[in-house]
Amino acid sequence: MKKAINAFDYSGPILDKLCHGGILVTVKDGEKVNPMTIGWGTIGADWSKPVFQAYIRESRFTKGMLDKAMAFTVNVPVENSQRVKEILAFCGTKSGRDLDKVKELGLHLEPGEKIDAPAIRELPLTLECRVIYKVRQDGSAIPKDAMERYYPNYEENKEDIHTVYYGEILAAYLVE
Ligand SMILES: Cc1cc2nc3c(=O)[nH]c(=O)nc-3n(C[C@H](O)[C@H](O)[C@H](O)COP(=O)(O)O)c2cc1C
Repeated sequence: MKKAINAFDYSGPILDKLCHGGILVTVKDGEKVNPMTIGWGTIGADWSKPVFQAYIRESRFTKGMLDKAMAFTVNVPVENSQRVKEILAFCGTKSGRDLDKVKELGLHLEPGEKIDAPAIRELPLTLECRVIYKVRQDGSAIPKDAMERYYPNYEENKEDIHTVYYGEILAAYLVE
């Protein structure tokens, strides 16, 4: 069962979890469902639409899936259990290129309402997002300290920078 919520009423808890342990972005392409841990994100308004922005590095398997699917769910835990920690650690270190994270973790999926990407019962606070815009970050405009810290090999590899995906929030709910 899903209980509809106003996404902005939950922006505090979403940002808190994002900054303390992470949350998931989940993409579906064909039969493949791939959740990935994120620690960077923004929730707000753009072009008068409610938007969640996710920052995805070029090298992530998720990126190729997202470019095709152009939709994702955001999955936020509501507790700090060992199980949640295990899921976030696994989805933040293993790649969908090599294994099926959903199967390995035994995650319980619920079909999306507005998009073809699922909610995850174990991380029940869900945003369904359709990508309305994406932009690759411009290394020449990023502050020097951030470049040194996050893109130390930028001169040799200009590719592995983040792309920002603007996901219009089409539905928000708690899976119960
Ligand atoms: C706490 C945490 C936060 C992370 N945040 C991000 C992020 O915001 N953007 C990103 O591109 N990768 C981030 N990562 C790294 C990816 O989750 C990781 O590389 C993952 O294995 C990629 O999975 P995929 O290859 O299946 O897409 C984070 C990892 C952790 C553990």
